[in-house]
Amino acid sequence: MARITAGVATSHVPAIGAAIDLGKTQDDYWAPLFKGYEFGKNWIEKEKPDVILLVYNDHASAFGMDLIPTFAIGCAEEFAPSDEGWGPRPVPRVQGHPELAWHIMQSVIQDDFDLTVVNEMTVDHGLTVPLSLMFGQPEAWPCKVIPFAVNVVVYPPPSGQRCYNLGKALRRAIESFDDDLNVQVWGTGGMSHQLQGPRAGLINSEFDQDFLERIVNDPEGLAKLPHIDYVREAGSEGIELVMWMIMRGALNENVKELYRFYHVPASNTAVGHLILENS
Ligand code: DHB
Ligand code: FE
Repeated sequence: MARITAGVATSHVPAIGAAIDLGKTQDDYWAPLFKGYEFGKNWIEKEKPDVILLVYNDHASAFGMDLIPTFAIGCAEEFAPSDEGWGPRPVPRVQGHPELAWHIMQSVIQDDFDLTVVNEMTVDHGLTVPLSLMFGQPEAWPCKVIPFAVNVVVYPPPSGQRCYNLGKALRRAIESFDDDLNVQVWGTGGMSHQLQGPRAGLINSEFDQDFLERIVNDPEGLAKLPHIDYVREAGSEGIELVMWMIMRGALNENVKELYRFYHVPASNTAVGHLILENS
């Protein structure tokens, strides 16, 4: 059977992708950030996941006001990069796992979560920056990736509790897939940041540090945090952190924290990164 072996959480700041693509990772501004991902790069080289279920949000690259799924699963064979801002990144196309994706879709919908099936979709920095942070710049991504998109851009976002419960349903789905696969679940976005309005530039390190602690050791309690608290404390884009709750819900209640990293700033954003092993 397929096994969920670990969860990875990381911010997905587009400027990080641009720093990698433009060869600036050793610049004074960026070097401390990339140092924080050395551990993960070494770790994942040994872990060799077969599939990553990568929870991220699209930033009006693939979806727009014409179509806004709350939860969407990418069931295609392949996903091309696209993006806002700097444009499509020069990174490999993402190879999906249609068989597992369809299995997850069936299991999770019959477990009372409505997913939108997407058979054609591009993927933006929300998905490609975490891959670059963990895998560097390979010719091809070393494993299959199932994109799992969550709407946190247009109000209302799903609650942290719903995301956490969805993670549990994803776990039941993955663990009932017949093939012997090493699966990781990743949650991306955050940490605190606000890109717009009078509070643009907001960073709340105290909230972020508390979130990092509680998502590891008190996920059930953290799941009760109302969405308005994310927005008030972590900024309008800090709501991206609900996607970490999907990753956390997919893991055991007790996990082994292998790695924690926190860094401010990267562009307008506080960067957080966790590696959790299913013990
Ligand atoms: C920034 C961060 C994001 O998460 C994003 O999606 C877009 C921009 C930023 O810090 O500039
Ligand atoms: Fe984002």
